[in-house]
Amino acid sequence: MGLAEQLAREAGALVHEGRPDRVEVAATKSSPQDVVTAMDLASERLLRERLAQHRPQDGILGEEQGHEPGTSGVTWVVDPIDGTVNYLYGIPAYAVSVAAVVGEPDPATWRVVAGCVHAPVDGRTFTAGLGQGAFLDGRRLRVNSAVPLELSLVGTGFGYVAERRRAQAAVVADLLPLVRDIRRIGSAALDLCTVAAGGLDAYFERGLQPWDLAAASLVAQEAGAVVRGLHGRPAGTAMTVAGPQATVQALTTFLEERAADTGA
Ligand code: IPD
Ligand code: CA
Repeated sequence: MGLAEQLAREAGALVHEGRPDRVEVAATKSSPQDVVTAMDLASERLLRERLAQHRPQDGILGEEQGHEPGTSGVTWVVDPIDGTVNYLYGIPAYAVSVAAVVGEPDPATWRVVAGCVHAPVDGRTFTAGLGQGAFLDGRRLRVNSAVPLELSLVGTGFGYVAERRRAQAAVVADLLPLVRDIRRIGSAALDLCTVAAGGLDAYFERGLQPWDLAAASLVAQEAGAVVRGLHGRPAGTAMTVAGPQATVQALTTFLEERAADTGA
């Protein structure tokens, strides 16, 4: 088992087994809806401790405690709980995400070399190595073949700030009549891994952070997905679109027409 998987499983066990019946909000970030629980903090602490033991030369970028540069050229990009609102409510769709990237921990330039997304409630474990394929519990993954947009099941997500959500809702209102249906799972990492496994035909979201994207983008890519932004840009905070090439092309055209990667 690779280190990314080992760490994601250990942190996943901590958050799942340690979840109290009623989870309290420890702090809020960009808005009252953008919450941190004690377990987000404990999980990231554990990941940092383990990385300091196993890879003392490497950097770490985590959602809750920021960037600590290293000297090796490798940075671990971790999300201690992706899907914190689901975790708060006891909805199983949350995951621990751990990736190793070479270069700056910036989706515009990084090379993601290994990643694991582990959903501790049902135990699903997605792993990928650069050039080595993507796997769910050891079974090789492949994205769905492209189908027309009207037959595509499309995942998406929303930010935490009201103005951003208004803009995202307007895009979804235009898209919904054009597709099979929309899903909002509540964890960007699981959305991307679900595309890899064929449980969604495609996915798009504005506002993703490096820790949402790192491990899961490699899983999706290694399963044959195109993962990119609009206007030929790399996937990142402005926009991430993922799926088989032709579906991504159709979605990209739709999103570019609405300038969905700009404004709020
Ligand atoms: C969030 C989830 C959600 C996505 C948000 C992310 P968090 O991450 O991935 O699905 O729509 O953009 O911020 O806050 O649960 O780590
Ligand atoms: Ca998180």
